[in-house]
Amino acid sequence: MKSLPNCYVIAIDGPAASGKGTLARLIAEHYGFPHLDTGLTYRAVARTLVIEDLPLDNEELAAHAAANIDLAHLDRDLLSAYGIADAASQVAVMPAVRRALVEKQRAFAETPPGAVLDGRDIGTVVCPDADVKLYVTASPQARAERRHAEILEAGGSESLSEVLAGIRRRDERDMGRADSPLKPAEDAHLLDTSEMDIETAFRAAISIIDAARAAGQHS
Ligand code: C5P
Repeated sequence: MKSLPNCYVIAIDGPAASGKGTLARLIAEHYGFPHLDTGLTYRAVARTLVIEDLPLDNEELAAHAAANIDLAHLDRDLLSAYGIADAASQVAVMPAVRRALVEKQRAFAETPPGAVLDGRDIGTVVCPDADVKLYVTASPQARAERRHAEILEAGGSESLSEVLAGIRRRDERDMGRADSPLKPAEDAHLLDTSEMDIETAFRAAISIIDAARAAGQHS
């Protein structure tokens, strides 16, 4: 499997707080590839609408906001605010928003030397020919505990049960939508991080990717 000559693409998908974002960053650093967290692109659309006091359910307005997103100016700190995630998953159900963002994400992946992209539909829709695909998952309870610890650390006050309910609501929306639902690509390597710390998950991911790279060089 090869996407484009001179491009090596690593696709990482999974649900909220599975560890995929941190893993994607570490993997990109390890191999020296650019990294795109595609969740930030959906968050940026949602934030634009919220700031401009526009509704989250108008596809035309949301698609217009999506067309104006600049991948070079995605501010992780601004876009990580807790409420934005839920709004992002609402705009992410709209096909016109997805089309506009997927076009930008693909262009990023198809620029040599390639890239690491993480999201919900990278291996299935954005880069179906990616060289390696990982599907990173963990139980809803483990994911909620991680996210809750991060929120407390940042000074937030949501309870664990509120965080768990938010994660389940987002899972349902992301897995249940008609356009590009969250699911593992058929050729994805599954990595369940429920019982792993980030160092263990990173080592597991690197051994999967190194094996795939070695197999690719011999085929
Ligand atoms: O990954 P993150 O939690 O930042 O993503 C926020 C939301 O954006 C997700 O819940 C999902 O609805 C949407 N998303 C998506 N496709 C992607 C990345 C994110 O639908 N590739």
